[in-house]
Amino acid sequence: MGHYETLYQRSISDPEGFWAEQAQAIDWFQFPDSILSQDEHGLYRWYKGGMLNTCHLALDYHVAHGRGEQTALIYDSPVTQTFQKYTYRELLDETARFAGALSQLGVGKGDRVIIYMPMVPQVVVGMLACARLGAIHSVVFGGFAPHELALRIDDAQPKVILTSSAGVEFDKIIPYQPILESALREAKHQVEHVIWHQRWIRKAEMTDDRYLDWELIARSANPVGCTPVEATDPLYILYTSGTTGKPKGIVRDNGGHAVALRFSMQHIYDVQPGDVYWAASDVGWVVGHSYIVYAPLITGCTTVFYEGKPVRTPDAGAYWRVISDYGVKVMFTAPTGFRAVKKEDPDGLLKQKYNLASLRYLFLAGERCDVATLEWAQKLLGIPVIDHWWQTESGWPMLANLAGVELMSVPPGSVGKPVPGFHVQIIDSDINIMKPGEEGAVGIRLPLPPGCLPTLWKAPDQFKESYLKAYPGYYFTGDGGYRDKDEYFYITGRIDDVINVAGHRLSTADMEEIVAAHPAVAECAVIGVANDLKGQVPMGFVVLKAGMDMTEVDLETELVKMVRDRLGAVACFKNAMIVKRLPKTRSGKILRRVMRNIADGKDFQTPSTIEDSSVLEEIKEKLDSVSF
Ligand code: COA
Ligand code: AMP
Repeated sequence: MGHYETLYQRSISDPEGFWAEQAQAIDWFQFPDSILSQDEHGLYRWYKGGMLNTCHLALDYHVAHGRGEQTALIYDSPVTQTFQKYTYRELLDETARFAGALSQLGVGKGDRVIIYMPMVPQVVVGMLACARLGAIHSVVFGGFAPHELALRIDDAQPKVILTSSAGVEFDKIIPYQPILESALREAKHQVEHVIWHQRWIRKAEMTDDRYLDWELIARSANPVGCTPVEATDPLYILYTSGTTGKPKGIVRDNGGHAVALRFSMQHIYDVQPGDVYWAASDVGWVVGHSYIVYAPLITGCTTVFYEGKPVRTPDAGAYWRVISDYGVKVMFTAPTGFRAVKKEDPDGLLKQKYNLASLRYLFLAGERCDVATLEWAQKLLGIPVIDHWWQTESGWPMLANLAGVELMSVPPGSVGKPVPGFHVQIIDSDINIMKPGEEGAVGIRLPLPPGCLPTLWKAPDQFKESYLKAYPGYYFTGDGGYRDKDEYFYITGRIDDVINVAGHRLSTADMEEIVAAHPAVAECAVIGVANDLKGQVPMGFVVLKAGMDMTEVDLETELVKMVRDRLGAVACFKNAMIVKRLPKTRSGKILRRVMRNIADGKDFQTPSTIEDSSVLEEIKEKLDSVSF
């Protein structure tokens, strides 16, 4: 058996022994007396009884162990021309003071704090300050519209919101004040304070008694130490799209999270303390939580915090500039970023201006990576380009090529083999394990390893319903896939209503709710169709109410605006078409998968359960007549 196989088999045959050993890699205040247990809801919990503090692991520990003067975070913002470095000592000082300010406002263990901010380093200070106090942060992606923010405020019920006066998208300034105030008006929950980080590009007006200035309160606060928390206490809630209009509050605990991320840095990413690690994503997504903030800092690395895009900030050489400026060893981003670069600079000419000798690996995840893009990046960079698979719920990779253990010859198109701890199986609806080459649902045999969601925020029953019920004994990932004869896995895409647009996870059910609210719409379906740049984009099919006389162009314009205003520009909802009927089964279920296959130009079989197959012809003709 190779190194990988030995490690993996041990993690599956003796999970408690394996994860007890891995837990030694972090600095506990009190080592857990139990490794794996079940809570009062029958859900698995790791490291019960262990006491620790995630901010201590990310900052205090390193300062106490000789890394105080090492750069912890590099802020690189081509959109504002700001370039700034924080040592571990500086980041600790700022965080401890800001935690002191939050504490003075009454924020303590178990309280929730929503963070709605662009890619400024104060986000990291805010997240770590919450962790320091044992408070639970919930970062909301800056591209979401007020309604989405309001939903999260009502679910998390935060005492305080941390925000910024503005963000920047390429060269467009996005003022946050109208978005935040609209969300506060819509939410039923009343927050006690809003703390504004003022940016010179656009200031917020302090028009409400609850508003406080970040700088002012931080300057006058006294630093505070770390509050010990239980391993099973929540560190954060991160809302993600599910199959309904209401986002799911993924809970991450403190203990399992720290152990899993530390393990992943060494074994998956081949990263050691002191290395420079760059995840080009946004803190609003799970990649940002795990691999911009927590994993690199817990490991004692230097993390690059990039407020820019792969292209047009200022050009398609942006990735190469950052890698060469800071000596990045490992880069991680979504395939869309590389597709954008490839489109603008197909021969990679801009790379010639930079020295990329430091770069050892490129990791891609967040959406399916097409083989052409993977091979293009591999050829251009001449290093291993590793596609790996995970999701908000897992918090860290489930299928990968473990660069720190044994680099395998993963066939193009595959996302590698199961990461230690993840007993991944391809199963059918009767929970039979499928043979190599046969496609089925991707399930993970319980228990999930440390770091994965133990439950949903205040909704253990919904957790069981959404993830554990369909395939008893398994966690259902929502993805379909297969494995080959050599046990390499392939992900074929979501088998639920979730789509992935430019690496952003969105719910078509959410969009359908918005479209259906238009007064002219009788019924609708939104599906994700393949797109060369963004992987997938949403497309709406609408049946008008009887007697409604509206042109397709007018309806589309109104629906696009509605989705933008209610969900956010990030939804990329730009196409809607009127059809006479939607294809349905005789029991009334809309045949979305068949519609998707037609839109993607794939072969499809007319299901025997269809009510009227001529509807498919109409949809096909309609799609053939438009370009999108
Ligand atoms: N705040 C406000 N608006 C945002 C936003 C944010 N944080 N993020 C995206 N948006 C807006 C964009 O400005 C755009 O608005 P527009 O329709 O008015 O132009 C819209 O949401 C769609 O954004 P996006 O899908 O990102 O498209 P884009 O054309 O702006 O950029 C890429 C395309 C490829 C450059 C961009 O998607 C990218 O950098 N991808 C890299 C992958 C990545 O980081 N994924 C994160 C998950 S790992
Ligand atoms: P998110 O929760 O936003 O990280 O999105 C998770 C979903 O993105 C997964 O369930 C997959 O559908 C998809 N995904 C993530 N990584 C990959 C990958 N490497 N290949 C294919 N799909 C992926």
